[in-house]
Amino acid sequence: MEQVITIKEMRAVIVSFRQKGETIGFVPTMGFLHEGHCSLIREAARACDRVVVSIFVNPLQFGPGEDFVRYPRDLKGDFEKCLSAGAHLLFLPETREIIGENSGAFIRMDRIMDILCGASRPGHFQGVATMVLKLLNIVQPDYLFLGAKDFQQTVILKKMVRDFFMPVRVEVMPTVRESDGLAMSSRNSYLNPEERKSAVALYRAMKKGKEVFLKGERKASVIKPLMENEIRKESAARIDYIEMVSPETLVPLDDIQRDAVILVAVWIGKTRLIDNLKLS
Ligand code: PAF
Repeated sequence: MEQVITIKEMRAVIVSFRQKGETIGFVPTMGFLHEGHCSLIREAARACDRVVVSIFVNPLQFGPGEDFVRYPRDLKGDFEKCLSAGAHLLFLPETREIIGENSGAFIRMDRIMDILCGASRPGHFQGVATMVLKLLNIVQPDYLFLGAKDFQQTVILKKMVRDFFMPVRVEVMPTVRESDGLAMSSRNSYLNPEERKSAVALYRAMKKGKEVFLKGERKASVIKPLMENEIRKESAARIDYIEMVSPETLVPLDDIQRDAVILVAVWIGKTRLIDNLKLS
């Protein structure tokens, strides 16, 4: 597995892949990889001739007072995981090159970037989309692989690709969970043992919501309080939001008569966790 740092080197390797007629799958990450990331890399390796993984803790997507500085990093472990999952090329861009002087040019979308996680984290999705656009323009992959855990991110990035006619196919892979149901996330490493136990409340609440839905309840105004009760059983937990939304537009639904997804964001102590579950 090769490692490159500069955009120039990256482009040269990509040209060499293209000259051989090889297809390219791309997995953008912020590192501290877990099984969720590895499943994306494995799927990319199955579907494409070459797999590029980027590791970059993107300062543009962290707000003031958020965890940018303490975001977990483990480059050595990441290298091993990428290698064994089947990656061919690791891209480790440097801030001064990939962000540079920050010209004030950003990808911005009305409404969809400002609701749900965007309401709690102003500027977050603008930072995500801008970085992913930069990375896609450098890597120019055939496929972009994303994890379903960051549901709003997947909707926004699919919209960016569609609205700007970008020649890449977006593949969203299922969330990988711990045995008790907690969605894998690099931020789970912030949880102390007590908080780790409480964190399963997100999954429990979503399962409760789905169970009630499957029994025939269609009103979000009935389902939501039942989910909130599940979260409130944990004293360390504080709800940021619980919503049932349309999977394409993220518009909240009250009467759930078609496809919907439950989205949750909950603080466990000082750690904000998100998760989602399809209702269908
Ligand atoms: O999901 C992430 O880890 C990040 O938001 C991404 C897509 C790598 C952009 O920085």
